[in-house]
Amino acid sequence: MEVHPPKAGKKGGIKNPSFKVLANNTNSQINIHIPYGGVFPSLAKREHLRNLPILLEKTLREANSPSPSRRGLERGCVDLITVTYGPGLEPSLWTGIVFAKELAEKWKVPLIPVNHMEGHIFSVFINKNRKKFPISNVKFPILSLLISGGHTELVLSKKWMQYEIIGETVDDAVGEAFDKVARMLGLPYPGGPEISKLAEEERKKIKNLPFSLSRPMLHSKDLNFSFSGLKTAVLYLIRDLGGLENINEKTKMQIALEFENAAIECLVHKTQKALEKYKIKTLIVAGGVSANQHLQNEMKNIISKKIKILFPKKDLTGDNSIMIGIAGYFNYIKNKKKVPKLTSIKATGNLRL
Ligand code: KG4
Ligand code: ZN
Repeated sequence: MEVHPPKAGKKGGIKNPSFKVLANNTNSQINIHIPYGGVFPSLAKREHLRNLPILLEKTLREANSPSPSRRGLERGCVDLITVTYGPGLEPSLWTGIVFAKELAEKWKVPLIPVNHMEGHIFSVFINKNRKKFPISNVKFPILSLLISGGHTELVLSKKWMQYEIIGETVDDAVGEAFDKVARMLGLPYPGGPEISKLAEEERKKIKNLPFSLSRPMLHSKDLNFSFSGLKTAVLYLIRDLGGLENINEKTKMQIALEFENAAIECLVHKTQKALEKYKIKTLIVAGGVSANQHLQNEMKNIISKKIKILFPKKDLTGDNSIMIGIAGYFNYIKNKKKVPKLTSIKATGNLRL
């Protein structure tokens, strides 16, 4: 992925950035991990190693295509490289970092390390035609609900690129719970979209469900979440209903619906509490789980007219390189174009905002 630097004149900087996406490619490994019911770390690393050069060449060809003299692996119009260094699985992060460092050295361009979660925050500002970046009229304070396969956190920002985690999961991430419950129901990985599909179908038909699940930590005084107990409650429910082999499609859909209702209710309730407590003006909901339609509907329901709510476009809810490019650009500007030494960039699995 390439992002144009700010244009000369009024455009540019943190307040009025100008971007043009020249090419954007993602290589999903989902099909490879399906048999394991989740990401298999050593396989992920091997696939990254294999795919990165192919993906780079394809992307550069597309980005450089207006200029016929530039082809393949030439630097072309790249002025800056950004790479995520955490949080995540360190072997996979290292693969990206080593690859990016080699390129930065070869092309003699700066390399900016980016926090993956900061990338998700910036993903909401990329609009459909990917030309405008409406950031200048965003009002503070901002609350970001970041929900993915590895994270569930509420982040408060009183100014750009300043973050305070005010609530988070004490055990499993919400995306992880979706994936695990999907597995219990015999649905393929990643489970979020599968559960959500079943739940949506059933939601149209039914008013009262024959069973209910707990809403862990719903009434705790803090802004934290817990999803491990909810997942275990589904396990016991399936057992009490006679095991998966004795559950028909209708019951499966009802379980998916009640699980989705419970998980989303926890997210919405704590978000609402945080909105009131911190007098929030802008709510950002991002990360893979933000694709969930029920969540989007419920969040819109609790928002007063004074609060602006922002979600990523559907194709940018999951991990993507545009968000890392844009977050990297903002870091570059914020640090007055000072760049870290290549040797100081290290994979940091448990990196926090
Ligand atoms: O942000 P992401 O693409 O990767 C991580 O950084 O983890 O998030 C992936 C997670 C997976 O757990 C997946 O099941 C979940 O997002 N997800 C969903 C939906 N689409 C993806 N969860 C609920 N409903 C969805 N529609
Ligand atoms: Zn992510």
